[in-house]
Amino acid sequence: PVAARIRFKILMLAYKAKHGVAPSYLTALITPLRDSDIFGVTYPKSGTIWLQQILILIEAKGDLTATKDENNATRVSWIEVIGGEKKFLLEPSPRLRITHLPYSLLPAGLKQKKGKVIYVARNPKDVLVSFYHFHDFGVFLETPKDFNDFFEKFMDGQVFGSSWFEHIKAYHTHRDEMNFLYITYEEMIQDLTDLEIDNVVEHSRFDSMRHNNKANYRTVSDQILNHKKGTFLRKGSVGDWKNHFTVAQSEHFDKVFKEEMKDIPLFFSWDI
Ligand code: A3P
Repeated sequence: PVAARIRFKILMLAYKAKHGVAPSYLTALITPLRDSDIFGVTYPKSGTIWLQQILILIEAKGDLTATKDENNATRVSWIEVIGGEKKFLLEPSPRLRITHLPYSLLPAGLKQKKGKVIYVARNPKDVLVSFYHFHDFGVFLETPKDFNDFFEKFMDGQVFGSSWFEHIKAYHTHRDEMNFLYITYEEMIQDLTDLEIDNVVEHSRFDSMRHNNKANYRTVSDQILNHKKGTFLRKGSVGDWKNHFTVAQSEHFDKVFKEEMKDIPLFFSWDI
């Protein structure tokens, strides 16, 4: 929408005039966020690219080809990079974004519980080491004189991304204002192996549970559950209501639902 883009440009200029730096396009973005938006937030060298990879793979339901077509940074792009706002406005849900921005520059909507924030933190000693090596590797960053030189700069917050301490403290202080998931790099490393994850998925499937007497209440006595009449894991589908409701009942239900839930912003899939 042209009007939104013009208002956006004005806000960008006003922000730059006041603060001397260009904001992230989303800091100034007035277009509302969506509940389905997901923002990964990290201090540099805490596992950003890893989180991008995981988000892409979850969105693509584990299909590896999804990560081959485009760079992670294109699929889950940086909100710091000016010029992404048009894509953001038009992109279908779920919109996945990543940022190193401090809490103060986070899009306002996220602070009103629109969308979700996943904050990946890493123990700062390892962050410091990783960042030190990255300063050698990254041509755009000033190569430190030696490790101690970088150590001092990091401790003073005189590095790209500012102070590690300030970054994490602000997010932690304001965590309840957001839909906020905090997870650490170390937890992610210790997480389940591929085989273990496969097993969890396999054994939580409807059919597996239906045939697993330890998970389906089959061992509960006939005095309590009449096993001749059915199974606890009955159908496990979305939309079975359509096989039972009349049109009139469905309409009546919709009316009551709308009234009862008007102040509760929760949404359900009635069909998939
Ligand atoms: P090291 O330099 O310690 O190896 P970022 O993406 O935030 O810049 O973080 C980069 C760090 O995350 C690097 O740390 C990198 O090796 C590590 N990393 C990236 N993907 C990873 C993965 N799948 N498993 C473990 N560490 C990963």
